[in-house]
Amino acid sequence: MNKRIAILISGRGSNMVALADAIASGAIPDAQIALIVSDKPSAGGLQLARDRGLKTAVVERRGLKREEHDREIIAVLQSHEVDLVCLAGYMRLLSPCFIEAFRGRILNIHPSLLPSFPGSDAHEQALEHGVKVSGCTVHFVDDTLDRGPIIAQRSVPVLDNDTEETLAARILDQEHRLYTEALKVVVEGSYKIVGRRVIRDC
Ligand code: GRF
Repeated sequence: MNKRIAILISGRGSNMVALADAIASGAIPDAQIALIVSDKPSAGGLQLARDRGLKTAVVERRGLKREEHDREIIAVLQSHEVDLVCLAGYMRLLSPCFIEAFRGRILNIHPSLLPSFPGSDAHEQALEHGVKVSGCTVHFVDDTLDRGPIIAQRSVPVLDNDTEETLAARILDQEHRLYTEALKVVVEGSYKIVGRRVIRDC
């Protein structure tokens, strides 16, 4: 049976598009997009999702406490029988009730080689620190910030003349490929988790 995927976004949605297009092209055979959820009605990704005929839902915060807001999202996801949740530029931390409702079934992509440079300003941190290599990470989401078990990583060089924008663009290009590869592994269930390590079945 196909795994039903929800993708949560807050903005432009390029990773969402990469995943949706990969699934539409058959690159992840046992997956289907159930729903795209945004916490922001202005998210550019919503229109890109609609253009692809994908179902969308907007669950605005409206001043709700984090947990109340998350419970609304959980209800929407459950009503769409979602198996896996992919965070793709979703700019809110998840509350424990969300993690618990989908434990081991939430993925996130982050634009650095975690555990270096967690948080929302990864490119700025990388340039400030002066690293020569950065990259991107797809990981399971647990109760920690950007520290859940790592599914896949890819490195990119940091060039002497890089700005946040040029570095972000180089990393983003790899994010789109990496997220698709990592989601395929999780959909296929071809891994086990040993301690913090996600070990791929050979
Ligand atoms: C990406 O860089 C992702 O790693 C980070 O937020 C950005 C979202 O970009 N979590 P997009 O909305 O997928 O284009």
